Amino acid sequence: MTGTPRIRVLFDEDAIARRNEALAQDIAKANPVNLLVVAILKGSFMFAADLIRALHRAGLTPQVEFVHLSSYLDGTVSTGQVTILRDVESDVRGRDVLLVDDILESGRTVTFAKDLLMARGAKSVKTAVLLEKPGKRAVSITPDYVGFTCPDVFVVGYGMDVAHSYRQLPFVGVVDHFDSNPDLFDQTP
Ligand code: IMP
Ligand code: MG
Repeated sequence: MTGTPRIRVLFDEDAIARRNEALAQDIAKANPVNLLVVAILKGSFMFAADLIRALHRAGLTPQVEFVHLSSYLDGTVSTGQVTILRDVESDVRGRDVLLVDDILESGRTVTFAKDLLMARGAKSVKTAVLLEKPGKRAVSITPDYVGFTCPDVFVVGYGMDVAHSYRQLPFVGVVDHFDSNPDLFDQTP
């Protein structure tokens, strides 16, 4: 890739913060018992950190765990294989679990994690994703809580990366390259 990348903001800090509070209120309404939040690393770390604090404000007292999953990528396209790089440490048996991920695209990552925790005896496994890309599902899964519907573009920021960069951005955006790539938002044929 050549050219100077610039980032177009898709979802800004304020919009994300407001949505997190609303999601937390929704999650609290279901009155989860002995709630265990499991954040899927790495992409969800920022969303999970903000959502967990919003859950606290919504009156919940979740415990927090992490699972590091890797979906093999060919460039920016998932090949469909998911492996565990780091497992959860807590026993999930009998617990209400909330799985947190950054993006639901093919659905393979979240489905893999959900099946794993259900097989280990979780009482329930609900899913919260910051972004959902519709029309991209390879496996059938409907997330319980969705932050935003995302256009079919590769996004970065708020924990999400391309080639390990841009995770630090406090907003979700799209990388444009001035010289090499066409404008992702330009719909002219
Ligand atoms: P899925 O297994 O196809 O649903 O893909 C979900 C995973 O792929 C997410 O957890 C992300 O880590 C990654 N991913 C999918 N789309 C994007 C994107 O636009 N930007 C960054 N990561 C993405
Ligand atoms: Mg991910």
